Amino acid sequence: MQVLRTIPITQKMMTLTLEKGKSVGFVPTMGALHDGHMSLVEASLSECDYTVVSIFVNPTQFLLGEDFSDYPRDLEADKLKLERAGVDYLFLPDEKEIYPDEEMIEFKLPESYAGIMCGKSRPGHFEGVAQVCAKLFNIIRPGKVYFGQKDYLQTLVIQKLIEDLNFGIEMRVLPTVREKGGLAMSSRNKYLTDEERVAAQVLYKALKAGDKSLIEAEPMVELEYFERNGDVLAVAAKVGGVRLVDCVRLGREK
Ligand code: PAJ
Repeated sequence: MQVLRTIPITQKMMTLTLEKGKSVGFVPTMGALHDGHMSLVEASLSECDYTVVSIFVNPTQFLLGEDFSDYPRDLEADKLKLERAGVDYLFLPDEKEIYPDEEMIEFKLPESYAGIMCGKSRPGHFEGVAQVCAKLFNIIRPGKVYFGQKDYLQTLVIQKLIEDLNFGIEMRVLPTVREKGGLAMSSRNKYLTDEERVAAQVLYKALKAGDKSLIEAEPMVELEYFERNGDVLAVAAKVGGVRLVDCVRLGREK
């Protein structure tokens, strides 16, 4: 696996692969990789000639007071997992590489995205996600990108970004990978105590039952929203100060 740290070298490598007529799959991540991330990596490996994974904890998608500086980072373990899986390129830029200039053109989400779920409870978050993904897509120029269903609104925002900015990328959305007990895997789960981890299982139970009172009855869980959009029911909540999200497609989960 080749580790690419600068944009010019990455663009050069990607031009070479495209000139060879090879397909490129791309999995953007913020690292602290778990089996959820790796399911996206596996899908790309099986569908594309080359797989690129990025690890970049993007400052512009964290709001003031959120856990940017405490966000879990585990680079050596991540590299090992990606290497073992057979990933071709790891794009690993630092902050200056991605944001060399303090002044930048910013994104503004339509109200139908900004006004619901995490769009509403984390104002500015998806503007940061759209900004960094637009940059990453332009640097890597993949044919396919891989995202997890767990971050439901993120998948809608990225699909809209791809269409509005004519990226010509196919987006693949893959099912949520869960721990035993149903808790959706998340890099932030490592901050949960054993007791909190058990309490957090109520999120998926409540989604499957379509019953938010199950969460309200759990004293360790602080509910942020329990919201439906089309056939998707999504939840965000804090457990022991750790913010978790999950969602289900109605009628599809056992
Ligand atoms: P991150 O939270 O690292 O997630 C990277 C990708 O992994 C996202 O597409 C996310 O939905 C997916 N993922 C996370 N947990 C999953 C699970 N349990 N099952 C399946 N997929 C899962 O999402 C981001 O990073 C960032 O916002 C990013 C898109 C990289 C932009 O900075």
